[in-house]
Amino acid sequence: MPLTLTRPDLQRSANFIAGQWQPAVGALLAVTDPATGEVITQVPDSGAAEALAAVDAAHAAFPAWRKLPAKQRAAILKRWNDLVLTHQDDLGKLISREQGKPLAEGKGEVSYAASYIEWFAEEATRMNGELIPAPVPGRRMFAIKEPVGVVAAITPWNFPAAMIARKIAPALAAGCTVVCKPAEDTPLTSLALVLLAHEAGVPPGVLNIVTASREKTPEVVDVWLDDTRVRKITFTGSTPVGKHLARRSADTLKKLSLELGGNAPFIVFEDADLDAAVDGLMAAKFRNGGQTCVCPNRVFVHTRVHDAFAAKLAERVAALKVGPASDAASQIGPMINTRAVEKIERHVQDALAKGATLLTGGRRLPELGATYYAPTVLLNADASMACAGEETFGPVAPLTRFTDEAEVIAAANDTPFGLAAYFYSNDLRRVWRVAEALESGIVGINEGALAAEAAPFGGVKESGYGREGSTHGLDDYLHTKYLCQGLLD
Ligand code: SIN
Repeated sequence: MPLTLTRPDLQRSANFIAGQWQPAVGALLAVTDPATGEVITQVPDSGAAEALAAVDAAHAAFPAWRKLPAKQRAAILKRWNDLVLTHQDDLGKLISREQGKPLAEGKGEVSYAASYIEWFAEEATRMNGELIPAPVPGRRMFAIKEPVGVVAAITPWNFPAAMIARKIAPALAAGCTVVCKPAEDTPLTSLALVLLAHEAGVPPGVLNIVTASREKTPEVVDVWLDDTRVRKITFTGSTPVGKHLARRSADTLKKLSLELGGNAPFIVFEDADLDAAVDGLMAAKFRNGGQTCVCPNRVFVHTRVHDAFAAKLAERVAALKVGPASDAASQIGPMINTRAVEKIERHVQDALAKGATLLTGGRRLPELGATYYAPTVLLNADASMACAGEETFGPVAPLTRFTDEAEVIAAANDTPFGLAAYFYSNDLRRVWRVAEALESGIVGINEGALAAEAAPFGGVKESGYGREGSTHGLDDYLHTKYLCQGLLD
């Protein structure tokens, strides 16, 4: 099915380096619709040469971009934000087509992405330094903020617009220049965003993007890791890849922001508002078909409210409409590829083999296509199961009973990961006790929808470090320089 855009030129199929669209010189990478497997278009399967050209361009553009007054950088970012919102429908269609999320979610992601661009446009003008009281006469001491330099952004497929925006907008606001490698599954949204950034006035070389397949990505990224001109890597993706980037960037001591895997607990205490807890779990678990890093992966329910909660949840989950993004009624789209479905199926089968029971779902949906899996609720999940130890990244909610607060906190924290955690309780003292005890960068308290441009997003433990969004999200692209001036009396 052709992609009908109001502005068909938003669909690009070339790299963007030094302000020029550069078509493939060698191999091509097919971009497919996860709903059907149909090829949408082909983009360059770039390698070392393109990666190096991007760094050359970003390095050359850095001195002028960092010197541009912050207010002018902010004005360009504001125009970018406006253009993104003007083209919300087209961008939403691109997202849904290459990533599979329902169209309403695709369009919602566009405004979510734009909120980061607007936020960092405003933050650009607030990169204040400090005047520090000097301990001796005749001196003035200052701390000023400077952009770190060329930033390499490596972005995931699950939010093709929002993850680009929340890495690139703060980098540009800070005065950094960027080389970017979008996920191999979803390069089209990022190419469209780069086109709009160019139209908004981002100068040539300031923002460069190269596309590459899963196989060729290491070739691109190795160039960036080895190049001393690249001063920072920002990555969202798996923990093993994050660890690899941390190890490999050690030789040039690059600054790193790593937003890695999660294994979020979702706890429903006996004093919770059960309807609100079900609403929260539906929002947090089934957004993007369960393909988010902050998705609840383990659901702990107090034994006193367990059966009532499970019944309410099962009714809501069974009613979810699964289907392609092209159907306006769809609430859950296809998974990103068949590997994702295989992992979900493995987790469900493993849980059932180890004693879990199925409340709803638990099967592929071949009548819709090879990438669909039914929204699923499992009962009697326990820590021995793969779904408790690994991120399922799909529409599966495994429920576990608990009886005691200390026991459930220990279980929730019994993971190497610490990105998001959620709990529902109406006991004020418990709320603070549990919020402080959970080992997690983000905690939802009686709330399932957490992300916002004004909030710091990021993890602890093996979920990574660095924060995106908020004032902290700008700081990650800056370093602090101390100036000490003498001979003043
Ligand atoms: C992610 O899954 O990495 C991002 C989720 C979000 O922004 O809420």
